[in-house]
Amino acid sequence: MGRRGRLAHDMTSGTTLFTRRAAIAALASSAAVATAPKSVLAAGLGTGRTDSLGAIAAEKGVVFGASFAVHETAKPQGARYAQLYAREVRSITSELELKMSSLRPAEHILSFDAADGLFDFAATHALAVRGHTLVWNDDVPPWIKALSTKEAGYLMDAHIEAVLERYRGRAAVWDVVNEPIAPWDNRPDNLRAGPFLAAYGIDYIARSFERARRFEPNAKLVLNEAFTETADERGETYRRTLLSILKRLKDQAAPVDAVGLQCHLSSRHPYDFPRFAAFLHEIAALGFEIHLTELDVDDSAFPRLASARDARVAALYRDFLTAALSNTAVTSVTTWQLADHTSWMHYRAVSANADATTAPRPLPFDADFNRKPAWMAIANAFRAMPPR
Ligand code: G3I
Repeated sequence: MGRRGRLAHDMTSGTTLFTRRAAIAALASSAAVATAPKSVLAAGLGTGRTDSLGAIAAEKGVVFGASFAVHETAKPQGARYAQLYAREVRSITSELELKMSSLRPAEHILSFDAADGLFDFAATHALAVRGHTLVWNDDVPPWIKALSTKEAGYLMDAHIEAVLERYRGRAAVWDVVNEPIAPWDNRPDNLRAGPFLAAYGIDYIARSFERARRFEPNAKLVLNEAFTETADERGETYRRTLLSILKRLKDQAAPVDAVGLQCHLSSRHPYDFPRFAAFLHEIAALGFEIHLTELDVDDSAFPRLASARDARVAALYRDFLTAALSNTAVTSVTTWQLADHTSWMHYRAVSANADATTAPRPLPFDADFNRKPAWMAIANAFRAMPPR
C-alpha cells in the first residue's frame, strides 16, 4: 500500500496504526490521564457555587469558562486544580488535547486518549466543552508540513471528519479554524500561510466550516482570531482583515455561528476601548455571535511588586470587559487557564529563564488557587452588566 493509500486508510477509518514506537507513545499519553487518580478527575464541588465566576456570569446570560489542560490533573496539585474548575467555570476549552499536534504527533498515530480525558472530566462536572481547534495552519507537526499539497488537503478533510465523528454531540462549541491571519507571512491578503491554505486557498476556511457542520449538526462553529484588541497598526490590520474574511464567509453562506476573539491583553500595548466596542458592533451587525475565547493579561511591563501588578491587571480586566460586555452579541467569556502557575505565560517564562524571580500573574487565581483582584474585577464586570 503506497503512502497515500496508508494515509487514506489511517484517516478515513480514523484507525490508529501502531508501530511499536507509536504504541509506547500512545500508552505514555494514556498514562498521563490514567495516573490522575479517579478521585482527581471526579473531584469537585458540583456545579458552581453562587459566588463563582461561572454563577455570576450565568446570572447575566453569559457563559464563563477557562481553558483546561488534562496534564495538570496528573500533577501534585491536580485535585485542587480539578476542584477549582468544578467550582468556578461552566465551560472548559481544550488547551492542547484537541489540537492536531496532540492528536496526530506522527503519521500513523491518531490518539484520542488525552481528549477523551477532557471530555470525561467535563461530563463528570456537567461542564460544556469548547473544542480547540480543528484546523490551524500553525502548531502543525513536521510530518504534516512534509505532505504534498494534495495530501494536506485530504488530511484536513479527513481530520475534521475523524474528530467530529468521535465527539459528535459532546462539544457545545468548536473552534473550527484558528488564527487564519498572519501579516508576517507577507501575503497581500494577510492570511497565515500553511498546508491547508496551500491546499485550498482562502476557501479552506469556508470548506472547514461546511465540513464541520456536516459532521456536527448542533455545536456552535467559531472562527477564532488573535490580536484584534489593540489600538495600534497591528490591531487595525487584524480588525480590517478579519472583517473582510467574515464578509466573504457571509457571502458564501458558510455555517459560521460566532467569532472568537482571543483577548490576550498586554501591559505592552495601547487600548482604545470605545474603538474596540465599535469593532464588536461591526461584527454583530454581520449577524455573528462574539465569544471572548482566551482572555488573560501579559503583565510583564507592569510594576514588579505583586500587589501593584495585580491592581493594574485587575484594572485592565475591568476596563476591557466593561467595554466588551456592553455588546449583547458577546455571549461567552473564557480565560486562558484560571491560575497563574498553569498559564502558558508561566511555562513560557520558566522555559526562557528557569531562575526568573518575577513570575507572570495574568489570571484571576494565584499559584495557591486564591482569588486575586482580577477575580473581583471580572466578577464586578459581570455584575455591572445591564440585564439582557
Ligand atoms: O507537556 C510538554 C512537556 O512534557 C515538555 O517538557 C515541554 C517542552 O517541550 O513541552 C510541553 O508541551 C508544551 C505544551 O504547551 C504544554 O505546556 C508544548 O511544547 C507547547 O507547544 C504547548 O504550547 C501551547 C501552544 O498553544 C501551542 O499549542 C500552549 O500551552 C497553549 O497555551 C497555546 O495556546 C494558544 C492557543 O492554542 C491559540 N491562541 C494563542 C494561545 C497562546 O499561545
